[in-house]
Amino acid sequence: MDRLNTTILSEKEISTAAQLLRQGNLVGLPTETVYGLAANGLDTNAVEQIFLAKGRPADNPLILHVADATWISRYCLEQSEDVQRLTDVFWPGALTLILQRRDNVPDLVTAGLDTVGVRCPNHPLALSLLKEVNVPLAAPSGNTSGRPSPTSAIEMYQDMEGKIPAILDGGPCDVGVESTILDVRGEPRILRVGGISVEDIERVLGKPVALDPALDSKVENLVPLAPGMKYRHYAPEAPVTVVLGEKSHKWILEHMKDGDGVLCFEEYRDLFSHGVTRTIGKEKDYTTQAQQVFSALRFFDSTDVPRIFTQCPPPEGLGRAVASRLKKAAGFQVVDSEQQLPFTVLGITGQTGAGKTTVLQAVEALGGAVIDCDVLYWSLLQEDKNLIAALVEEFGAITTDDGAIDRKKLGNQVFTDGKKLLKLNEITHPVVCEKVKELISTMEHAVTTLVAIDAIALAESGLHALCDHVIAVVAPESERISRIVARDGISEEYAMQRMKAQKSEEFFRECGNTVLENRDSSKEEFFQKAYDILKNKIIKENDYV
Ligand code: TXA
Ligand code: MG
Repeated sequence: MDRLNTTILSEKEISTAAQLLRQGNLVGLPTETVYGLAANGLDTNAVEQIFLAKGRPADNPLILHVADATWISRYCLEQSEDVQRLTDVFWPGALTLILQRRDNVPDLVTAGLDTVGVRCPNHPLALSLLKEVNVPLAAPSGNTSGRPSPTSAIEMYQDMEGKIPAILDGGPCDVGVESTILDVRGEPRILRVGGISVEDIERVLGKPVALDPALDSKVENLVPLAPGMKYRHYAPEAPVTVVLGEKSHKWILEHMKDGDGVLCFEEYRDLFSHGVTRTIGKEKDYTTQAQQVFSALRFFDSTDVPRIFTQCPPPEGLGRAVASRLKKAAGFQVVDSEQQLPFTVLGITGQTGAGKTTVLQAVEALGGAVIDCDVLYWSLLQEDKNLIAALVEEFGAITTDDGAIDRKKLGNQVFTDGKKLLKLNEITHPVVCEKVKELISTMEHAVTTLVAIDAIALAESGLHALCDHVIAVVAPESERISRIVARDGISEEYAMQRMKAQKSEEFFRECGNTVLENRDSSKEEFFQKAYDILKNKIIKENDYV
């Protein structure tokens, strides 16, 4: 294709746009939903240019844009009462109707289907242009295939510069997401959610309307009835994760790293100042969200964020269309911030010798399962090839002959050097965290009420984020020391040294939702105390028994 000089035309140059269309050229068409890439819909050669300019697969049909509802009968057969009702209320507007087509509609427009999509756009320039050319305009969204749809002339220019002669500038789009597509041949069925809400359509028709089951799922076995819905869409370059639910902001904070991209509601903007943040309107303001969602997705391509987390509105009103665009952009990588596991996840932390083991015994006595992070950590140092490689790169020759990490060699380096210890934690904590998450997810069907994560570094490692409740176990220093001496057979002096390397009692107290004091009591007494608290406070509190 020859490179063209792409002009942005103003309102006053509408007849230039009409002329170009009559001559079989493509023109950027402003509509209230998104900008379209328009051609004379009855001119096969012109329509062919659309597929070339967009890089659009030929099996994906185009919508015919018409000037008013009287044009429907020119291109479609039989009209039901539903069609009349819908066009009376919603046209001109963001509703595309799928109807049986007449033979005068080129096969290329319908991708060989015996149906055609028709829509009357609610934009003064589009309507004037349609009346002036007096032919239906075939127009998909004006983006390069796979990219977010353009909602301004300049966004369309970014994608189409050099490929089309002109874009008619009609200002930013009022709606911001594409039309709702409704198959009205038999019982009405929604093939794409969009600018007119499902609720509004049901109100006008006075009956419930089915949604194409392929709409809300990762398309695997389901073939969507609107062919375009099967393609990956709207996607920025960085991978997107959609985070659902009321705790989405917390989930994102816990999972994001500095410099990650965050797409959030305005109310939460300040929470994510350590990320590259873009807002899409207030949490309940679906109208603004729809207007901004595509520009926001485009924005991240002008940054170098490695990944993007996004909040997402619920499926109501226009929120449903926004959510559908976000999920598509994420390739259906969706997590639920409120996912409820069938058991309480309990974190247990505290200094060495404080009595954590006794609390864990109480957990087991109550039928709970225990994840011992110290054991996990050391087994990862033996087996996890990637982790071992990362540690060797950082600390040098610290492996044994069979390639595992040598505890002593590693210990010698980090115990005397605070900076090295931090580095070690930086490398190992995420690996332990991932492993614990994996273990918990494999337990999802376990018959238990309680899973306890036992970790001294529960807070620093981020493991606390997985917990419903954290117990901090504290005990006087003298008691802790005599316990370690007896347990590990080491000198009091060495025990003191180990203590010093750990965080203060105060630190642990602050980590816990519950602080369990282990003072002046026998092992049996402390066990009973822990058992009672677990049984009466922790498990009961979470309603699992
Ligand atoms: O708001 C809109 O609808 C915008 C503006 C420009 O009007 N247009 C638009 O077109 O979004 P496009 O081509 O990007 O999306 C049209 C969708 C595609 O998923 C396509 O597969 C589906 O409509 N479609 C078109 N004709 C169809 C038909 N006869 N049966 C089923 N689905 C159809
Ligand atoms: Mg499109």
